[in-house]
Amino acid sequence: MEAERPLRVCLLTGGGDAPGLNAAVRAFVHVATRRNVLVDASLFGFEGLLGTEQVVPLRLDDVRGILPRGGSILGCSTRSNPFVLIGDHHETLRNRLHELSIDALVLAGGDGTMSIACRLEELGVRCIGIPKTIDGDLGGTDVTCGIDSAVETATRAVDALHSTAEAHQRVMVLEVMGRNAGWIALRAGIAGGADAVLIPEIPYDVERVARKIRERQSLGRRFSIVVVGEGAMPVGGAASEVELSRPGHLARLGGAGERLADELRAHDLDHEVRVTVLGHLQRGGTPTAFDRLLATRLGAHAADLCAEQRFGRMVALRNGHIDSMPLGEAIRCVSRVDPDGELAECARAIGLELGAARGAARSAR
Ligand code: F6P
Repeated sequence: MEAERPLRVCLLTGGGDAPGLNAAVRAFVHVATRRNVLVDASLFGFEGLLGTEQVVPLRLDDVRGILPRGGSILGCSTRSNPFVLIGDHHETLRNRLHELSIDALVLAGGDGTMSIACRLEELGVRCIGIPKTIDGDLGGTDVTCGIDSAVETATRAVDALHSTAEAHQRVMVLEVMGRNAGWIALRAGIAGGADAVLIPEIPYDVERVARKIRERQSLGRRFSIVVVGEGAMPVGGAASEVELSRPGHLARLGGAGERLADELRAHDLDHEVRVTVLGHLQRGGTPTAFDRLLATRLGAHAADLCAEQRFGRMVALRNGHIDSMPLGEAIRCVSRVDPDGELAECARAIGLELGAARGAARSAR
């Protein structure tokens, strides 16, 4: 009688990279190997599976020494959404999986990748999701892997801007990533001691920011630091986009910092206003210990779910414990800063200007 072949899964890192991905890949391979699950990897997101890149075996030797490395050893792609690339030709992907004897997919990614996983499940492709995004906007988990490192980088940038702002008596605007969630901006703003933080969840009145800067000046503090999330917008305005959305791709955000600087310059402050756009530095470099640990726990649990054939789930950290939830449920929970929640209130309590009074954000929408 023919022996049952071991389960073979294909791992990929979808969407943009996030610090910690390699730790998740490493943990997944370690646990899967111990549990007799064979692991292949689709390089550059779905590109490997769709044939423009390769699908390669992933063994213990391939994941040695990668814990402190940023990026993803598997490569990432924001341009390989299978539903955009192959449209309704779903059998193309299914045939490819069959050809490669792949029984299930394991996708590390953000909300876009989790939505793809959900649709694949509906088509009968078995999937497990591992949540990663520096934006922190995936709600099914207490925290996603990557955001801690991004906040650390942004906080160091706020620290560094202080000395040069003070030396030149300038207003320094720091634009940070996060898409439509203000988690990076608010956390780094509080941790770095910024004077104002503007986030997408609270449309801002620039007059309030100008007033804060003048107030500081009257107290002899002749510089200010303003952190602005890339998705922030003035009251009645919209997020600033540098590239419009198209099928399968979200709009590319950018320009919020320059726009705010122009608005502040129009207020005739006694300071020069300068802008720093932190950009992809927030995604690169060595992941923090927190992200490595979280990613390791998530990756290990994802491999356990595979070994137990519990598909259709996203692994998550919930109330401090590693757990999992149905993919469909995970993509329905979006995480945004509550304009009047504890973190925003804490910011206001320590004197940070958030661009609107408590309660105003809800009525501005
Ligand atoms: O989702 C992560 C993120 O870094 C966002 O914060 C940012 O808006 C976007 O990706 C940038 O993507 P890309 O590198 O594709 O321009």
